[in-house]
Amino acid sequence: MKRDAREGLLISPIRNGTVIDHITGGEALNVLKIIGITGATTESISVATNVKSGKMVKKDIVKIENRELKKEEVNRIALIAPSASINIIRNYEVFEKKGVEIPGILVGVVRCPNPGCISNTNEPIDSKFEVLQKGLHCLYCDWIITKDITSHLI
Ligand code: CTP
Repeated sequence: MKRDAREGLLISPIRNGTVIDHITGGEALNVLKIIGITGATTESISVATNVKSGKMVKKDIVKIENRELKKEEVNRIALIAPSASINIIRNYEVFEKKGVEIPGILVGVVRCPNPGCISNTNEPIDSKFEVLQKGLHCLYCDWIITKDITSHLI
């Protein structure tokens, strides 16, 4: 159903920061998690979920004020929302628009499910996975995470 003009915008435009648009419907909170934003961080965040979109059936949007996400931070979003677009906003204008590319290596992003993996000991070692077609391959113990990556996020 089309939105009535009187309903206005679901979330306001931002002056400066990053808008992550075209996120797979329902994945916005996982997107926040994968880029390390929790309720305890200081950014002002707006989230809209399951919004009607021309290009997708339903999409989510995340707006982060006063922070421009870097390439390494945004690319991991591709693991859960491959069609996401990243818009860098400066003085209310879209300064830059880019897609997300699946990264080759993930360091410190997901926890290895293998309790015996060295990345799960007291050693000061960040987890390290290579991203393969069949899943995420732990470079320390060879474990492969084949599904539900979000439940393994650190
Ligand atoms: N946006 C925002 N604040 C601004 C400018 C843009 O929150 N000051 C948001 C828009 O609401 C939109 C996204 O940033 O969700 C991208 O803006 P724009 O490129 O103007 O929108 P579209 O043309 O709809 O984008 P696309 O072509 O990627 O669908």
